[in-house]
Amino acid sequence: MLVGSQQKLQDDIRALVERHGRTRDALLPILQDLQAAQSCVPDFAMQVVADELGLHPAEVYGVVSFYAFLDHRPRGRFVMRLCRTISCELARTAPVARQLENELGIAFGETTRDGRFTLEWAACLGLCDQGPALLVNDRVYTKVTPDRVHAIVEDCRKVFGAHAAQPSAPSAPVHPAAHPQPALAAAKG
Ligand code: FES
Repeated sequence: MLVGSQQKLQDDIRALVERHGRTRDALLPILQDLQAAQSCVPDFAMQVVADELGLHPAEVYGVVSFYAFLDHRPRGRFVMRLCRTISCELARTAPVARQLENELGIAFGETTRDGRFTLEWAACLGLCDQGPALLVNDRVYTKVTPDRVHAIVEDCRKVFGAHAAQPSAPSAPVHPAAHPQPALAAAKG
């Protein structure tokens, strides 16, 4: 990372610390804001956050490693997380997974070269009776079938075409109110 970029990131983190505070409780909100702004929490940022909060860097790294919504590697603008816990698997996650890989041209754990999509597995999203469940950023899709995958991805692509600067998922279906950001509390799947 260039020195100028590091300085900017350091300033941004200090602003987040001012907003959220210097207590241990502020760690997760700071990391979430960083993830949203940077599409990842780079190693340098973890070090700065640790310094600012008076924590050991290993503790910060542990939190980033644990939570599904945090990553030290850059992610795509749209992160698609498909639940692979047992109820969803029984509801036939596998063909949905194959269709997602075909549609995006990447495997799970990868990001498209244009930086638009990341495909990941997720642990249970709390919608076990409505699987297969798919989370696209903060939008949940339930009862996903291979036939629906193309439309879901196309909705994302439309957002890039018309509103490339917007980080949110497309205005698509599901259960936004019943399960707000369910995977925020989830460990990596
Ligand atoms: S098993 Fe997939 S949402 Fe619970």
